[in-house]
Amino acid sequence: MADHRRALVTGGAGFIGSHLVDTLLDRGFRVTVLDNLNTGLRCNVAEAADFVEGDVRNPDDIARAFKQTPDIVCHLAGQASIRLAWANPGADLNVNVVGTLNILSAVKEHQTPRLLYASSMMVYGNPDVLPTPETAPALPVAHYGVTKFAAERYVALAAEDPEHPVAVTSFRMFNVFGPRQSLDNPYQGVLAIFLGHALRGEKITIHSDGEQSRDFVFVDDICRAWADAIDSPATFGRVFNLGSGRATTVNQLCDAVLRQFGLDRSTFEVNTAPAQLGDIRRSEAAIDAIAKTLAWHPEVDLEQGMATTVAWARGAGTGQ
Ligand SMILES: NC(=O)c1ccc[n+]([C@@H]2O[C@H](COP(=O)([O-])OP(=O)(O)OC[C@H]3O[C@@H](n4cnc5c(N)ncnc54)[C@H](O)[C@@H]3O)[C@@H](O)[C@H]2O)c1
Repeated sequence: MADHRRALVTGGAGFIGSHLVDTLLDRGFRVTVLDNLNTGLRCNVAEAADFVEGDVRNPDDIARAFKQTPDIVCHLAGQASIRLAWANPGADLNVNVVGTLNILSAVKEHQTPRLLYASSMMVYGNPDVLPTPETAPALPVAHYGVTKFAAERYVALAAEDPEHPVAVTSFRMFNVFGPRQSLDNPYQGVLAIFLGHALRGEKITIHSDGEQSRDFVFVDDICRAWADAIDSPATFGRVFNLGSGRATTVNQLCDAVLRQFGLDRSTFEVNTAPAQLGDIRRSEAAIDAIAKTLAWHPEVDLEQGMATTVAWARGAGTGQ
């Protein structure tokens, strides 16, 4: 049944945001996208969504996006690269923190009742406990993790405003992957970077010894959690990890990507380079909280998700 509420998805032309737009449209929401097309693509945005080209750093652009008053704001617009944040912390701060504060001002002004925010596992830094629960200390070791955590806290504080009650939920997403993740952006998404290289026949570079681990979670699973949370009061005022709950080393990832193309390291060049600034060593989500609260479990494992992503990548450019 159609849901006549409107969702505003900031960053809705990007990788995760555009899939969330599709999920929300499928569930009957009307959708507005606000995106400055910095890394996002106009062709990622479903035709049924209203598109506002604009920047979360600019309150006038946000005002245009709020013209069709949203009932829900899903805030994903952000600078998503650890390396670019390291190179230019001020720019990262402006987009991720000032941009979020601007969105919160608009939410307050328009009395928007519901806000969901795209936080990151980078808030944990190098955690002592694996799999890492939400109760672990936030000790980010990269500028990007600092700004995602600051924004997450600003979002939490917005919910405390007695004059304007807004129900907020933040998701600390781990390494999300799937179709539409950029295959040629060297700054974000290790799986897509490897995939792009394998597809183009360019050597793969592994930073550090490759034994660092990541938790890869498929984008459809992520969007289901976001959409299910919208009307779940048990998620209000809370922060949840969204990951697969499994650790994969970068070496394992590289071999799995090559397998998708019928290759291995004897037939494809893989070299190593020093670790990058801000890289974390081990990452694995504890997902008990979201499992208990939303009955959410990842449904697509790494091999399945990778096969889907490779099929998309082979025909990339179709905007599918
Ligand atoms: N991909 C992951 O594994 C992951 C993990 C944790 C958190 N996140 C967060 O999820 C969100 C989406 O990430 P993604 O992987 O889809 O990256 P993405 O780069 O594909 O998406 C970000 C989107 O935001 C837009 N954007 C950037 N700056 C903007 C600005 N100033 N104003 C308006 N729009 C702007 C971009 O054009 C892009 O469409 C980001 O906030 C990111 O920090 C991503």
